[in-house]
Amino acid sequence: MSRALVLVLLAGCGAPRDANYYEHVQPILEEHCIRCHTPEGTGPFDLRDVETVLAVADRAVLHAEQGVMPPPTTDPGCRDFQGSERLTLDRREIATLTQWARRDFALGDPADAVSAEVSEPGVLADTDLEVRIPAYTPTYADEANSGNEYRCFALEHGRSEDFFVTALQPIIDQSPILHHMVVGAVDRDSLPANFDFANGVDCLDDDMGAIDGMLTAWAPGSEPVVFENGAGIRVGADQVLMVQMHYFQSGPDTVGLRDASGYAMRTAPSVETELAMLTLGSVSFRIPAGDENYTFSESYRAPSAMRIYGVFPHMHVLGRSYRMWVERDRKDECLLDAEAYDFHNQLHYLFNEPAELEAGDEIHWECGWNNSRSNFERIHDEPQETLYGERTDEEMCFFFTLTEVENAG
Ligand code: HEC
Repeated sequence: MSRALVLVLLAGCGAPRDANYYEHVQPILEEHCIRCHTPEGTGPFDLRDVETVLAVADRAVLHAEQGVMPPPTTDPGCRDFQGSERLTLDRREIATLTQWARRDFALGDPADAVSAEVSEPGVLADTDLEVRIPAYTPTYADEANSGNEYRCFALEHGRSEDFFVTALQPIIDQSPILHHMVVGAVDRDSLPANFDFANGVDCLDDDMGAIDGMLTAWAPGSEPVVFENGAGIRVGADQVLMVQMHYFQSGPDTVGLRDASGYAMRTAPSVETELAMLTLGSVSFRIPAGDENYTFSESYRAPSAMRIYGVFPHMHVLGRSYRMWVERDRKDECLLDAEAYDFHNQLHYLFNEPAELEAGDEIHWECGWNNSRSNFERIHDEPQETLYGERTDEEMCFFFTLTEVENAG
């Protein structure tokens, strides 16, 4: 197809000719941008304020056109996921912004203002269980890992019967020092006899099982996780909730901050579908120094029929892209496909349609990294060969996969 024809087709996406702020642009910003661009959010400036919007309008439109803002997600065209309408801009919305720029950012008439119906993200109603770590001030005592601390806390849930977690809301107390938080259910008997419940324990390179019985993880950008359609993850009466915190000292003003983060959860005594987190990922990659686009892929053969409800991909700051797909009889079925990865926008993708797998199907995944100077997020000024590890300047390639494993046969 000729380039001119492509442009004509794109232009025909139904953007209003008279695109103006009040009628067309404000609802797009409300739906897609203000979850981050408010004083409380992770992004700079307040995009609810019309003067601010006009001051950054050029860059805002450019970022939207280039797919940089809102930060990229997996492509809903590969497999659609909960909230994709709100988390990604569609072609019509982008075309509307382009048209607005062509009209010199016309304001229009405030009387035409249309308010998008945006639900407040980040707040989950009806939680019935809250667990928080005892207030803790990281000491960053590990010199080999300066400025980083991994601390694991075992929290009692106080229930005398098994129960199911059906939704989780992270409670982030000290966001400037929190790099990630993982919560899992582990057997109380598996803890060492002298486990320090009050202060937690150092747990770098020893995840205390949190990742094995993982319920969910929080990293910058994550939103509450809701398992729909009567699904949930079991927590045993004889288990504790193990929370692994990764703290990092992001600046001198973060020294001495006391953190009491945790989770609020919705629970149920029983569920129709019992979910479990399957940890897939790679640890044997070596990312060459200076390589702008290094990819590594591996696969896993499903031992029995299984259903995949969602995936939480996770890399560190060198991450640039990822993919995941199922291969059956040499045919591929797409699970995730992200041309770009943003460490500051890590999301759980809960699929609208679970993927149905048969025993023997291959699940493939691929991580891509940019370990060159063109990656402005890099930790080391001079790019270095980078291997797997939990430290911020090491890399990860994980796909925490939410599955319902059917009984074989
Ligand atoms: C998940 C959070 C998030 C969402 C959603 C988001 N942003 Fe951002 N935005 C950020 C963060 C963080 C930064 C600053 C760091 C960076 O540039 O990556 C930023 C930076 C920007 C910048 C400044 C970039 C520069 O040139 O300095 C603009 C403009 C912007 N965003 C516009 C938007 C628009 C328009 C939307 C909605 C279409 C949006 N953002 C949605 C988090 C977000």
